[in-house]
Amino acid sequence: MFISFHRSILISSAALLGSIWYSATVFGDTASATYEGKEVCIKCHDLQGETFAETAHAKAFDSLKPNVKNDVKKLAKLDPGKDYTNDPNCVGCHTTGYGEPGGYSADMPAGLLKALQGVTCESCHGAGSVFREQHGEAENTLKRDGEYTDRKVLIAAGQNYDYEAKCVACHLNYEGSGYEGAHPPFTPFTPSLGDKYKFDFIKSVMHEEDNEAKSIHEHFKLIGVFNGEAPAIREELQNNAIDPDSY
Ligand code: HEC
Ligand code: HEC
Ligand code: HEC
Ligand code: HEC
Repeated sequence: MFISFHRSILISSAALLGSIWYSATVFGDTASATYEGKEVCIKCHDLQGETFAETAHAKAFDSLKPNVKNDVKKLAKLDPGKDYTNDPNCVGCHTTGYGEPGGYSADMPAGLLKALQGVTCESCHGAGSVFREQHGEAENTLKRDGEYTDRKVLIAAGQNYDYEAKCVACHLNYEGSGYEGAHPPFTPFTPSLGDKYKFDFIKSVMHEEDNEAKSIHEHFKLIGVFNGEAPAIREELQNNAIDPDSY
């Protein structure tokens, strides 16, 4: 009873805040932000990096290799022996930033190419070349001057807070999903192949899935360098977050 009541608040406030952020993102200067790969994030966020490595998203590129996940490939009428790692019908959702400036593309330098394989940090948090520097600067500002930095600065630099919009662009990109932006190439894995493939944002983002594998890294308590509006899911996730010193 309590849980479902609580959840409906989460959903409605998420919808409300989503629209405010959306306009901030549209008018912000995100043009210069490009993708850099997860290593730059992990330098400062090592615990998120460590726990992210265990998730299905981190391993998403491997699923495109031949003779991996043969059973589910057969289920989806894919060829288990085929190498799909260069297939334009597949890489879009199994790499980071595909089709966007500085995002994954088959002809980029080998180092960066490898760094952007899989669904990594910037797939959910946005292209990080500009906001990552602001994170470090904001921490220094707090230590030096005792001043907090507003999240609006991050949003203007391309950091994403509308998580659901990012998830559904991959997870609901198939015909009949109800997602308005759906366009080919579609995901081969849809609920018609089994309930496992039904996408539920709140369930998976709150780590309420039935399966043991988590799709997002563990959450760790923040100091609170940034202020201003935070996503609706923040409070509950932070209440249950792990204290980094005890991990
Ligand atoms: C130079 C170190 C540094 C780098 C590099 C960095 N961050 Fe951060 N990040 C921080 C600090 C410091 C905070 C504030 C932590 C706090 O409030 O406890 C932060 C906060 C965050 C937050 C929470 C922001 C909020 O709304 O409170 C997210 C999400 C995040 N970083 C993701 C990333 C991602 C993704 C990357 C890579 C593109 C990245 N960071 C790169 C230092 C860094
Ligand atoms: C760039 C595309 C993309 C984005 C963005 C994305 N996902 Fe995924 N997601 C995938 C792919 C691809 C897989 C399958 C990984 C594999 O096993 O190869 C996956 C797998 C999952 C799974 C299944 C995990 C398992 O163990 O079976 C869940 C749950 C999930 N994602 C939730 C989310 C949520 C929640 C968000 C947003 C916060 C999100 N995803 C964002 C592409 C994406
Ligand atoms: C529109 C985005 C999208 C495209 C295009 C896409 N995928 Fe995926 N793929 C996903 C998502 C999302 C999942 C996770 C589904 C889930 O677990 O709910 C996934 C999961 C998978 C899985 C793991 C399924 C499991 O049960 O473990 C394999 C294998 C896979 N995709 C292969 C492919 C291949 C091969 C192609 C190209 C023919 C492809 N995908 C194209 C989004 C996509
Ligand atoms: C599938 C989507 C997804 C991916 C991939 C992802 N994150 Fe997150 N991340 C989230 C969500 C959702 C939150 C919760 C946001 C909130 O509380 O406001 C979050 C929160 C964070 C935070 C805030 C503190 C915390 O632990 O909750 C940091 C820092 C962060 N992520 C860093 C990273 C880094 C570094 C990577 C890559 C190694 C990464 N994230 C990959 C979805 C993702």
